[in-house]
This record gives sequence, C-alpha cells and structure tokens, in this order.
Amino acid sequence: MVTSQDIDQDAWETLEKTIIYYQGHPVGTVAALDGTVDGLNYDQCFVRDFVASALLFLVKGRTEIVRNFLEQTLKLQPKDDQLDAYKPGRGLMPASFKIVFNNGQEELEADFGEHAIARVTPVDSSLWWIILLRAYIVATKDYSLAYQDDFQQGIRLILELCLATRFDMYPTLLVPDGACMIDRRLGIYGHPLEIQSLYYAALRAARELLICPGNEDLVLAIDNRLPLLIAHIRKHYWIDFHRLNDIYRYRGEEYGKDAVNQFNIYVDSIPYCELDRWLPKGGGYLAGNVGPSQMDTRFFTLGNLMAVITDLTTEEQSEAIMTLIEQRWDDLVGDMPMKITFPALEKDEYKYITGCDPKNIPWSYHNAGNWPVLMWMLATTCVKTNRRELIQRAIAIAQERLRHDEWPEYYDGKQGRLIGKQSRKYQTWTIVGFLLAKEILAQPENLPLISFDPFSAEQVSQACELKFDSFDA
Ligand code: GLC
Repeated sequence: MVTSQDIDQDAWETLEKTIIYYQGHPVGTVAALDGTVDGLNYDQCFVRDFVASALLFLVKGRTEIVRNFLEQTLKLQPKDDQLDAYKPGRGLMPASFKIVFNNGQEELEADFGEHAIARVTPVDSSLWWIILLRAYIVATKDYSLAYQDDFQQGIRLILELCLATRFDMYPTLLVPDGACMIDRRLGIYGHPLEIQSLYYAALRAARELLICPGNEDLVLAIDNRLPLLIAHIRKHYWIDFHRLNDIYRYRGEEYGKDAVNQFNIYVDSIPYCELDRWLPKGGGYLAGNVGPSQMDTRFFTLGNLMAVITDLTTEEQSEAIMTLIEQRWDDLVGDMPMKITFPALEKDEYKYITGCDPKNIPWSYHNAGNWPVLMWMLATTCVKTNRRELIQRAIAIAQERLRHDEWPEYYDGKQGRLIGKQSRKYQTWTIVGFLLAKEILAQPENLPLISFDPFSAEQVSQACELKFDSFDA
C-alpha cells in the first residue's frame, strides 16, 4: 500500500529534478518535467509558477534559490524605454526564462510573452515578483537585499508601469485578456479580479520595501491609491444576497454624481436566477470583473483566495467567501482541489468569448478546469480563517490521485474527475501546490510570508468617504 509518506517522498524527489541551475547555482524550477512536451515552453521557469516553489523553499529554509531567482530575473527586466513597440516596455518582468548557450557560455533568455501563444502580456509576473521579494525578506530578515539600488530601481520601474496615468479613471489596473495565470482569451480583459488582488498585494509589499530616499513620490502615490483600490473592490466587486437584491432592483441609465448603479449594470446581464439558487446563506464572493455595464459573476478562485490571504477583503467578506467554498464544495472543489473558475462558459458564450479555443472547451483548462496548484492558497485561507478541516479534506482528496495520475497540470469535468485533456504530467506547481498546502497546515507560523496586517475600515473610509453596503456573513 502506498502511504502518505511515499507520496510526499515522490513529490520531493520529483521537485528536486525540476530545479534549474545557472552557472552552477539554483535559479528556478521548470514548469513541467513531462518529457513528451515538444516545442512548447514547459522547460522554462515561469515567474508565476515559481512563486509556489519559492514559498516552499523559504518555508524549508532553502533561501539561496529564491535569492538567485530574484537577482537573475531583476537583471532581465528592461531598464530603458523601447523604440520598438513589439519589445517589452521598461519595468516589465518576464513571463518565463530559460538557459541558452551562446558561444559555449550559459545565458538566461527571457520571454515577455513575445514567444507565447497569442503573444499575451504577463502583467502578473511583475506583481508576483514584488510579492515574492517581500516574502523573501520576511523569511530571511535580510532587508539589505531590498535596499540595494538595483532592487529599489526594479520596484520603482514596476510601480511606474502600474501607477502610470492612463485612459482610465478607476483605481484598479486595466489589462488585456490573458494577462495572468489565465493566459488565453477567456473574457477577462478590463479589470479582472486576479490582477486586482495581486496589484493590491504588490502595492502593500512595495510600501514596506520602498524606504530609500528618492522614492517619496511613489510612496505617496501608493498611499493615495491603496485605500481607493480597497474600497472599490470591497464595494463594487462584492456579491452576496443583499447585493444581488440591490442589483436585481437597480435602475439603469442613471446620469450624474448621485447614480446608485454607477456602472450601469443591466440586471438581465446577470444570471440572477442561478445566483439566487447558488449563493448559500452567509456566503459571498468577489466578482470576476467590473466595468461599464459589465459585472462578470463567475467565481475566480485565485483572485478570491488571494484577497482573503492578504486582507483585501474585510473579515466578514473573507468569512463569507470561505462559507461559499464550504457550502458549494462539489462545484468549487469536487474531486480535485480546486476549480480555477466557476461556472464554465458554454455554447455561444464559449464560442464568442474564447474565440472557439479547443483547449478551453467548457469544464476544461482555464474554462472551469480544476488546478491542484490552487491548493496552497486554499490551505492559507483555511488556516487564516480557522477552517482547517476544509483543507484537510482537500488534501485527502488530492492525495488519493495526484501521484497515481503523475501530477497532472489540471483536471477536466464538472467535478474534476478527468485528467486534463492536454494536461502535462509532472507539472511542478501541481507537486508544489500539494506539498506547500501540507506545510502551511502543519506550520501556520509561515502565514506572514504572504499575508499583511489588516487595513482598517477607518483608514479606507476616511480616505475615500465611501459607505459600504452591509451584508450578513
Ligand atoms: C500555462 C498556464 C500558465 C502557466 C504555464 C506554465 O500556460 O496557463 O498559467 O504559467 O502554463 O505552467
């Protein structure tokens, strides 16, 4: 009989094999060890994928690989303006990198999305990079790394990109489709939740790290942006029974400052009958996207879980999100923790919104597939909100299958019973999502690596004089 120790040992041994060495030093982990992957980029180290590995290494005291990763990726960040608009702009962090040989010398070659399918821009990489830098500092107390000139400049350049004046008057970040973990067209252009949660966390992290003279303008910009961003998300993205009732009775076409339905959401664009049935008492969540006459009511897991972990949501909202996960377990966790988004886009919606993407057919891949990597975030939220039994249940489900199925990248089907149609095997962040979830459960003292002190309601409302809707959690 295979024991849980056997499974952990197999996971650790496989993880060791994923480590990439550059000039003799560990600098990252490949996306997947699947030997059948030809011509694709799974042999590269993805910034977003490495975050889970990095946190696991930090928890285990293996800080060198994380430091090397931060130093090397910083060198890949463009520092000058580009004349060529097809080249990555100043400040952007790459989606991934790999080692190449030039005249017999090892070099790191970055991909900023210019080689990626559909040439998608990795907006999340820059945000994750700052969040990871701060996790490294929390773990090692080695503040000197962040205070180095090159690191201060790296953070500055990212923030200049994020805080630039643009054709937009929201505190949220405007991005194209596929700018994050969901790196294919899935109707998430505009102000998707995943990016907003990471944006908020990156601003909080940068606020702690940018303390060298000369950064005062940026610190002020962060202080101005944060409360507005928090209030905007907590108010306009929130969906629970009360809010659904409000939206259901919204008037449209309101003009002027006193408009209640500020984004002119037409109630017929919201699947209110399904939500009325689906939303459990005391449950709630943050919508996937909010914009002009747009409220995407799909549940996006990464954005919601990161909001709970980092205290972007109020305590009551965090409780309500966890209640939703608990009460809608079959939909959101099912037979493999956990769905990336729910529900799937089907029929015409699938065709028009994904552009008929055969990888994103309903209940597959990004279109409501189940991704084991999300388990570490679920573990963190469960520990944070004292719902340890939920993550214990999730780990038990994953333990039954992951090793036997050779650590697939994702699962398909309404319940996540099918191994993903085009899923890679031996996917690093699947292995790490599982191991890290166990570590967080066993050692909750690691929570501060990724969490922040709550931002008080007074701080938020003082700054932006917004009244929050009440809701019962
Ligand atoms: C896929 C995923 C992306 C991930 C990459 C490497 O493209 O959509 O989120 O970073 O694979 O695992």
